[in-house]
Order: sequence, then C-alpha cells, then structure tokens
Amino acid sequence: MEAVQLTKNFGSFAAVSGLNLKVQGTKCVGFLGPNGAGKTTTMKMFTGLITATGGAALINGVDVTKDKKAALASCSTLIETPEIYSALTPREALSMLCEIRGVPKAERRKRIDESLGLVKMTEWEDKRVGSFSKGMKQRVNVASTLLSDPEVIILDEPSTGLDPRGMAEVRSIVMSLKDRLIFMSSHLLAEVTEVCQEVAMIDHGKLLVYDTIENVTAKFAGGGGAVEVGFTRAVDEGLVSRVSQLSGVQTVTRTNERHIVVRFDPNLTARDKLFEGIAGLKAGAVSFEQSSGLEDAYLSLIKETL
Ligand SMILES: Nc1ncnc2c1ncn2[C@@H]1O[C@H](COP(=O)(O)OP(=O)(O)OP(=O)(O)O)[C@@H](O)[C@H]1O
Ligand SMILES: [Mg+2]
Repeated sequence: MEAVQLTKNFGSFAAVSGLNLKVQGTKCVGFLGPNGAGKTTTMKMFTGLITATGGAALINGVDVTKDKKAALASCSTLIETPEIYSALTPREALSMLCEIRGVPKAERRKRIDESLGLVKMTEWEDKRVGSFSKGMKQRVNVASTLLSDPEVIILDEPSTGLDPRGMAEVRSIVMSLKDRLIFMSSHLLAEVTEVCQEVAMIDHGKLLVYDTIENVTAKFAGGGGAVEVGFTRAVDEGLVSRVSQLSGVQTVTRTNERHIVVRFDPNLTARDKLFEGIAGLKAGAVSFEQSSGLEDAYLSLIKETL
C-alpha cells in the first residue's frame, strides 16, 4: 500500500497533509500518532470510506479512488469497532458479510471455518453475539477481515477498549496472521513493539518517520535498545559487571533486587543475541522484556499533543 501526497482537508483544516508512505511485503506495520493526528482519516482514505482531497492512496498499485473494487480486492479493514447485530451468531454474521462482499458461494463455508478458527471462536460459532464480551465481539470483527483471505489488512486500534486478556488475545491473533501485510494503528506502544516490525508515526497529518522499530528506537530513544531482565535471585555487582561485558551492551541499571535494565546498541547486538548472552551466564534469568524504547522515541518525536 502506498500514499502519494495523500491529503484530506475538512473545510480549511488539513487532517492529512501531503502524506507519502510506501509499505510493502509481508509484515506488521504500526501506525502511531497522538489523538487527532490523522490515522483514522488516512485509513479511511485507503479503504474508500472517505475521498481524498488530493494525492492518491494505492493498494497493490491500484488507486482506491479510480478503481475501488480492484484496489480493495486483496485488502480488508477494521475501522473503529463496528457493532455486530446482537441477535446473530458469528457464523450468521460472517455468512452475511460473505454475501455482501461477494465471496463465492462454494468457498463461503471454508472461509468462515478458517476465519473463526484463526480467532479461536469455533466453539462459539452458533451462540448469539449479544451475549459476548467486548473481546469476543472484537474477535468476530477480526474474523470478518479474514473472510476474503486478504493480502493486506488495515486495523484501526484493534484492541482499544478491551481488558488486558482481550488485548493479549487480539495481539496474539494479529501475530498469528502470517504472510500478509498488516497496517495497524495503536496507542499501545508495548503492543506495537511486540506485534510490529516497523512503525510509521504521524502528527498533525504529516509523516514524521517510517522505519523499523529497532532503527526508530536507535535514532530517537537516546541511541539504543533497552530490555528489562528478571532473575530468580538477587542481582549482585558481579552479575551486573558480567552483563556489562556482553557484546553491544552500553549500560546496565539495577531497577530493583531482581531486575536490571540493559541498554544496548542494536547495531552491534540484536535482541535475541543479547538474550542468548544473558542466558549463557547461567545466572537464573527468567524474564526478558522489551523496555520502553519505542515510548522514548515516541515522546522525543511527538513533542506536544493538541
Ligand atoms: N468528518 C470530519 N469532519 C471534520 N473534521 C474531522 C472529521 N474527521 C476527522 N476530523 C478531524 O481530523 C483530525 C484527524 O482525525 P483522525 O480521526 O484521523 O485522528 P486519529 O489520528 O485517528 O486520532 P485518534 O488517535 O484519536 O483516533 C482531527 O482533528 C479530527 O477532528
Ligand atoms: Mg483514530
């Protein structure tokens, strides 16, 4: 998908302004920016829900305004949590959507089974949606984006409003969708760090940066990645010093008795190599979490909100 000088004005207000962004391949790209930055507006232009004032939104090289059907043939979207009729079951709701979207009759059953399987709702396929939790409804919404087996999936804040378990479930579903391009907006930077390989950040309708998370973090978060490592026993000076000597490590800070934050140069050591190094010390490392590198970068790039 590609935005070329993509612009949307509401009256004299520029919600999206000359956006150039080309996202290719099979990966997950996070779309970040403060409230009102223009994320939903951009996604709506990509899906033909609103028309651009200027420039173009292309999917697989096809301009959405010129040939919406062809452009969206291989793309599906979930924008701002749609409500499903509460009297319907997931299977009924998805059947209806198959019909609306023109999924060939012969393929419908298979597509519905596969989509419900991917979001782990098979067990609930014949229960009424009205009795579902928000998280379960959102899983059905995500299933609806999978019906056409799309190459490109656009998700606008898919886990917003869900409880921690619901968020974790949506996250793991997104991570399980292999071999597709996923373009996902989110305010949850920990989620983006876990799910996405790349991020595009916008503010006031303009693109600030588009790069891999590692590069964005390296460039804008005080020059390095950071991970928090937990141990089964208290961390002593000896351990701090041994971790400090691993390749690429810049600083090691003890944050409490059993945790350290390791800042490292992602050009010298990838995160997985660092983990291997720390595990190799046989010091009882039990947890390894991305520290808020992306948050640091976000805060340094986005100075003030509206
Ligand atoms: N239909 C509309 N008419 C007028 N202004 C609009 C319309 N839709 C969006 N806007 C304005 O465009 C700007 C961008 O809105 P948009 O919804 O794209 O932001 P966002 O990045 O998705 O924010 P959030 O993170 O809060 O969802 C906002 O200032 C919003 O008020
Ligand atoms: Mg939005």
